[in-house]
Amino acid sequence: MKNILLVGGAGYVGGAVSDELCNKNFNIRIYDNLLYENTFLKKIEFIYGDIRDKRKLKIHLNWADIVIWMAAIVGDGACDVNKEDTIEINSKCVKWLSNNFDGKIIFFSTCSVYGAQNGILDENSQLNPLSLYAKTKLDAEKFLKNKNAIIFRLGTLFGVGDTYSRLRMDLVVNYLTMKAHFNRELTIFGGNQYRPLLHVKDVARAVRAAINVNRKGIYNLKFDNYKILDLANIIKKSFKSKIKIKKTKMMFQDTRNYKVSSNFFNKTFKFKPKYDIKYGVKQISELINSNRIKNFDDIRYTNQLYLKKYGTK
Ligand SMILES: NC(=O)c1ccc[n+]([C@@H]2O[C@H](COP(=O)([O-])OP(=O)(O)OC[C@H]3O[C@@H](n4cnc5c(N)ncnc54)[C@H](O)[C@@H]3O)[C@@H](O)[C@H]2O)c1
Repeated sequence: MKNILLVGGAGYVGGAVSDELCNKNFNIRIYDNLLYENTFLKKIEFIYGDIRDKRKLKIHLNWADIVIWMAAIVGDGACDVNKEDTIEINSKCVKWLSNNFDGKIIFFSTCSVYGAQNGILDENSQLNPLSLYAKTKLDAEKFLKNKNAIIFRLGTLFGVGDTYSRLRMDLVVNYLTMKAHFNRELTIFGGNQYRPLLHVKDVARAVRAAINVNRKGIYNLKFDNYKILDLANIIKKSFKSKIKIKKTKMMFQDTRNYKVSSNFFNKTFKFKPKYDIKYGVKQISELINSNRIKNFDDIRYTNQLYLKKYGTK
């Protein structure tokens, strides 16, 4: 049985990945500092630890055959809250990992490394990181270049990945679904910009596909590319009651606009993403209707707002 260490495995992606891998002939251990949480309740071995605590982390790296590295400060706004900590966590700790672990690594980068560009971008396209988040992820990719590492450049994720983990409402599909439900109005900045999107459970399926294959390299991962305005219309149509779409000028801070191809991963690993936008919207809507979350606007569901208040320690 392979030992798999999920670093940052208590987060949004970690929830889906740990569900996908447990009970599948792997020993799973999670290492996480619960940046946004007070508890970890899933019945999986859990180590409370910070990736900056190298002595502690090394003990668990020594145990692992495979490391799935998800710990990061995630999102453009969140990364700008404390830039020094972001560089330390997102880049320097990955450099340290590359010098201290020789097993298989699965690492999550972001399609944001492409910035704003025309055409369909593949793994060989020009890179144009516009934010500190994208820059630190690109640095981390470089540190892993000569390792036995699979690097996923993920599109923006959506949906519900598991029962236990913190939802992220700062992701465009989840956010717009919440606004449609509570405000009956979607405010779209610009609207013509493209974004690759992917259900969080499909990330977990891709990880599973990658685990047993003896390959390395960088792979884009997306379900499809959506124009934000088209996305708003899909969400609008998912609701029976009337939803208004209001367009405003593009926010200055977020100029990302790109379409990516994930043919390379899909062909190499015989992978097909399964979950579409409608499924993600349905999941979020069901969660809202179940009244199990008191306040979807709570800052704990938004990385940037939470870190602004509580910091990155
Ligand atoms: N969600 C997306 O849309 C998306 C898109 C592209 C890439 N990614 C990448 O996927 C990975 C997971 O993202 P997510 O959406 O689950 O984010 P998340 O914020 O939900 O989870 C990050 C996890 O890392 C942990 N963590 C943060 N700093 C840590 C530290 N110093 N020590 C130990 N643990 C720490 C947090 O406690 C949290 O459990 C990240 O690397 C992210 O860059 C996510």
